[in-house]
Amino acid sequence: MSKDVSARLTAASGPAGSRIAAFGAARGDLSVPNSELIEAIDSSDEWIRQRTGIVTRSRASKDLTVTELARRASVQAMERAEITPAEIDAVLVATITFPYQTPAMAPLLAHELGIKDAAAYDLSAACAGFCYGIGQADALVRSGVARNVLVVGADKMSDFIDPTDRSISFLMGDGAGAAIVTGSETAKIGPTRWGSDGSNWRAIRMTGSLLDVRGCSGPAWPTLEQDGRTVFRWAVWHTADIVRQTLAKSGLTLADVDVFVPHQANMRIINELVKQLKLSDDTVVARDIETTGNTSAASVPLAVDRLLCEGRAKSGDVCVLIGFGAGLAYAAQVVVLP
Ligand SMILES: CC(C)(COP(=O)(O)OP(=O)(O)OC[C@H]1O[C@@H](n2cnc3c(N)ncnc32)[C@H](O)[C@@H]1OP(=O)(O)O)[C@@H](O)C(=O)NCCC(=O)NCCS
Repeated sequence: MSKDVSARLTAASGPAGSRIAAFGAARGDLSVPNSELIEAIDSSDEWIRQRTGIVTRSRASKDLTVTELARRASVQAMERAEITPAEIDAVLVATITFPYQTPAMAPLLAHELGIKDAAAYDLSAACAGFCYGIGQADALVRSGVARNVLVVGADKMSDFIDPTDRSISFLMGDGAGAAIVTGSETAKIGPTRWGSDGSNWRAIRMTGSLLDVRGCSGPAWPTLEQDGRTVFRWAVWHTADIVRQTLAKSGLTLADVDVFVPHQANMRIINELVKQLKLSDDTVVARDIETTGNTSAASVPLAVDRLLCEGRAKSGDVCVLIGFGAGLAYAAQVVVLP
């Protein structure tokens, strides 16, 4: 007969709210202008600027790995939050470009940071990955499962891009952004509005699977490709509503928003969102894409960090984050900036 332990079994419980204590950022060490990419895709600087708003993108040299980018961003976030490795209970890495199917990057990153005995796992939600991670970290902290969580969005997209693929090569950059999520007496991270649309699973995809590579008939190395128009239309049809739903879930309105940080996918998508949401001129909007490109899971934290470093956003500002991309997966939340 099984024992009834319900009177003794203790459920985890945590603080009433959570907050982001600090961000950290690491961009690729190279700045690659459009002119360096156009020949391979029969394009032009003017076409890329007009269609995407990208002038140059950050890329990492061959020896600067995605894990090293993640480490640099994490060290900065931990230093700014004045938190020691021993205080971190969980490491969540959002990435689609760690070059091993298994093990995950997170345990290796934790080890390199001197974080011992922490839960460590990767999550694959592409450009939505960082916002998925913040949603998970918020829940882990408030439930008492973890005191402090390191959330990292890290992607070295150039490792998985075919320079001759004109559907995507010119969009992508390399970088990592990190955040420390910790407990708070009041909510400084609102409820995450997340979801997915698997009917568009193939809109952004690999050219083949790892099993295809194993055989002799498949591609030499699967790279990323996309139906840009499908993704573009999906984004302009759905993301404004997701932002409105996120604010409603948080008990706030657009008038409360000081800073808007959408995924840095395309300047035209960002401008369209600003128009649809009728954001006031006072709202600070992240437009990091112009010089960083689309860095997938790193895009949102890199854009926030830049606004904070440039003084365009400040501690205490109410900020809406939204990530969306391959899956199609999306996630958004309101955060009060550290
Ligand atoms: C990829 C993207 C920039 C393409 O822009 P677009 O305005 O949709 O362009 P289209 O695909 O409709 O093509 C328009 C024209 O440009 C041409 N074209 C396509 N890619 C080109 C390139 N790289 N260089 C030059 N011309 C190109 C097309 O052949 C087409 O020519 P046509 O009018 O003579 O037929 C845009 O769709 C996009 O950014 N989508 C979102 C993708 C995204 O963010 N993905 C990342 C994951 S979040």
